[in-house]
Amino acid sequence: TVRRLAAPDIAARKGGVPIVCLTAYTAPVAAALDDACDLLLVGDSLGMVVHGMPNTVGVTLEMMILHGQAVMRGSRKAMVVVDMPFGSYEASPELAYANAVRIMKETGAQAVKVESGPTVPATIEYLTQRGVPVMGHVGLRPQAVLVDGGFKAKGRDEAGRALILEEARRTADAGAFAVVVEGVAESLAREITAAIAPPTIGIGASAGCDGQILVTDDMLGLFDWTPKFVRRYADLKGEIERAAQTYASDVKARTFPGEAETYYAKKS
Ligand code: KIV
Ligand code: NA
Repeated sequence: TVRRLAAPDIAARKGGVPIVCLTAYTAPVAAALDDACDLLLVGDSLGMVVHGMPNTVGVTLEMMILHGQAVMRGSRKAMVVVDMPFGSYEASPELAYANAVRIMKETGAQAVKVESGPTVPATIEYLTQRGVPVMGHVGLRPQAVLVDGGFKAKGRDEAGRALILEEARRTADAGAFAVVVEGVAESLAREITAAIAPPTIGIGASAGCDGQILVTDDMLGLFDWTPKFVRRYADLKGEIERAAQTYASDVKARTFPGEAETYYAKKS
């Protein structure tokens, strides 16, 4: 049996070979990604990517647990981290702990991720002191879209930079084993990476981080529109469209199913 990577393995990669991370939401895709990846994130991006929601605010704990179970079943080697959804950790460290424990017990995943905020470092400390490995997330925070008024790159002025650097420091001091840095300029990503002990995992945050993550469905080309920081490694939407068109013409021409795909009664 293969040993699954754990939080200390990821933490130990600071400054070394870049940590390879992708999001995963389903068992078959997790199985296909497992070999190449060190870490699979069951991101609350699944609300938008899989369920067609306008943002991640509507994602529930139950959705995260269902997809977390699927990704754990599909993967063997990669560490699996599950996002704590909006509303499941902000009110108090005690609430966050109860919900993190539910995620870990019901999915078998070894860690959770929380987006930064003024009260969040205290929660990260509370969780890590009680056996819950936590990944932080600073910079662009998708769950704050309704107060921020959109998904915008962060820390472009001096005050913004200082705030994000301070959040990253507090996240690291609170005991996070790794920190996602999203949507910041290269210089800030490098500054954060140099300033904190845990590895930084960048998304739209330059090659200056200790690892990289992308939303898998974005990098596979499932959507027409992809942001500047995404590189498309496949054209799955085109593949699916071509497959569906070919299937449609085969069905209409009665060339599918053919003999090879047909059951015949045994001769008596
Ligand atoms: O929800 C998500 O997919 C994420 C990452 C892309 C970091 O939080
Ligand atoms: Na997320």
